Amino acid sequence: MHEDIILTNIDDMKNVFDLSNDSCVRINSINKEPILWENHKAWFCERINSSNPFYIVENKNKEFIAQVRFDLKEQWEISISIIKNYRNKGLASRIIKEASKKTNIKEIVAIIQEDNIASIKAFIKAGYKECSSVITKNTKYKKMVFYNKD
Ligand SMILES: CC(C)(COP(=O)(O)OP(=O)(O)OC[C@H]1O[C@@H](n2cnc3c(N)ncnc32)[C@H](O)[C@@H]1OP(=O)(O)O)[C@@H](O)C(=O)NCCC(=O)NCCS
Repeated sequence: MHEDIILTNIDDMKNVFDLSNDSCVRINSINKEPILWENHKAWFCERINSSNPFYIVENKNKEFIAQVRFDLKEQWEISISIIKNYRNKGLASRIIKEASKKTNIKEIVAIIQEDNIASIKAFIKAGYKECSSVITKNTKYKKMVFYNKD
């Protein structure tokens, strides 16, 4: 992959904010409300100081193109978003696979809205397997799982 997956730092705060408020990202998130800057700032500062993996992806000119992070909820859960101009280029599956392996977390789940076909395809291509369905706030999600080998 020509892109670099690197740990997020404070300089990425605005880029992650803008991407998180992209309409396509909000539509495909459980919380669909716009994110406010003050809330983002507090969350982001706490999040980059936690040991849970949080990466950004840069193109070869060191420009921000995506974020991928792993949050410990009931299980380790992955979340990915790519900026608009870099979607539909087959990038997602490569980022998901590389980042998932990089964490070395044994079992990772992805919770994906059932109508998010691009995301489902990308996760399958990255090696995630569908394991169940969940309904949250009247919306159906697929739960997919990935295992890192020892
Ligand atoms: C979901 C997301 C990460 C996918 O990234 P991407 O790089 O655009 O995905 P890809 O280009 O690898 O496309 C994946 C597959 O879906 C297909 N696809 C893309 N858009 C599609 C659509 N609207 N309908 C059907 N298939 C579609 C692609 O052709 C590709 O299929 P292929 O591998 O058979 O060629 C990106 O669209 C994104 O950031 N969306 C907003 C945030 C989001 O939804 N995150 C995921 C939450 S779980």
